[in-house]
Amino acid sequence: MSLTSELQAELDALKAAGTYKRLNYIEGPQGAHVRMEGRGDVIVLSSNNYLGLANEPSVVQAGIEALRRYGAGTASVRFICGTFTVHRELEAAIARFVGTEASMSYVSAWNANEALTPTIVREGDFVISDALNHASIIDSVRLAKAITKCTTAVYKHADMDDLREKLRANRSAPRKLIWTDGVFSMEGAIARLPEILQIAREERAVVVMDDSHATGVLGKTGRGTAEHFGVLGEVDIITSTLGKALGGAAGGFIAGPAALCDILTQRSRPQLFSNALPPTVAASSLAAIQYAEAHPELVTRLHENARYFRGAIQEAGFNPLPGETPIVPIIVGETALAIRMSDLLLERGVFVTGFGFPVVPKGEARVRCQVSAAHTKDDLDAVVAAFKDAGRVAGLL
Ligand SMILES: Cc1ncc(COP(=O)(O)O)c(C=O)c1O
Repeated sequence: MSLTSELQAELDALKAAGTYKRLNYIEGPQGAHVRMEGRGDVIVLSSNNYLGLANEPSVVQAGIEALRRYGAGTASVRFICGTFTVHRELEAAIARFVGTEASMSYVSAWNANEALTPTIVREGDFVISDALNHASIIDSVRLAKAITKCTTAVYKHADMDDLREKLRANRSAPRKLIWTDGVFSMEGAIARLPEILQIAREERAVVVMDDSHATGVLGKTGRGTAEHFGVLGEVDIITSTLGKALGGAAGGFIAGPAALCDILTQRSRPQLFSNALPPTVAASSLAAIQYAEAHPELVTRLHENARYFRGAIQEAGFNPLPGETPIVPIIVGETALAIRMSDLLLERGVFVTGFGFPVVPKGEARVRCQVSAAHTKDDLDAVVAAFKDAGRVAGLL
């Protein structure tokens, strides 16, 4: 059998199991509504465009101007071919926004996460990661282990006793790293950050937090999980994305002490061997940060919308996972049912994705709703009406 026919057989099996992912094409900018090819106008409930900045005019304009000023890119990596001044401005703005001394940008948060662990741990060090951390963290830790022969462990999700116990058992490791998501993307749950910081102090460990779903989202002014808990400036290292609340194009970063960012410039492999974020995207992201700083009312609206939607969907008879973030997952059980719900909702003009195994545990497939500051109350009411109808057809209500 050839590779192609083997792959085709795997695809056929996915289709037979009802777990095949189909791409939906959109014909215009991301927003509360999009124009979807073959469907027309649909309400988007599955985007990380939390502040609605993906098509904010000043964010778009900044990208256009940067394209004119810098061209497409440097055509090589930063230390060989030069670094655009817009990257320096962006990195200063990121550090200011998330409350660290410095930051370093990457082409994605995936890239940033993968860059970090192998760069800062050595043989004999200990890395411990929450069981529900994002795939990019899991791969970063695996990569670090393969490259450096550090010791690794996973603690049960949000289980502080397990975290403490495993750190204690590895006290002799010279450097200890705790990796956690700030907001867990499939649950919408917030990390128990104050307790993690306390344990880290007791065990002399470094806390690394991926705030991809919290940057621009949590805290009164959107500075993330640390602001939410009133511990801004206390997390050792924050990684996050520019591809969600902060403009939504692409890009990610590692924020922390200036010495860390300098070491990343010296040694992190995606910096040394891969091109930087395109200047257009860097400029759009910078404009998005500036816009978010000037408009904290967007964060307030996002929080209000999330509260409103949670209440309304519960009233409609659904049982979302409890929480206070704009991620509102509705557990339906089997993967095929999550995909069916998502299809039924799309037929009713609502674009929301169903997730199943292996993204989430078996039997816990879900439709993950994500609320944006860009949604109006009418949008959210229309979504709830579509859910009621689709839920009846799917036998969920
Ligand atoms: C927690 C978390 N970390 C990292 C990423 C990757 O972000 P990016 O698209 O910038 O690579 C995501 C995206 O889904 C995420 O949810």
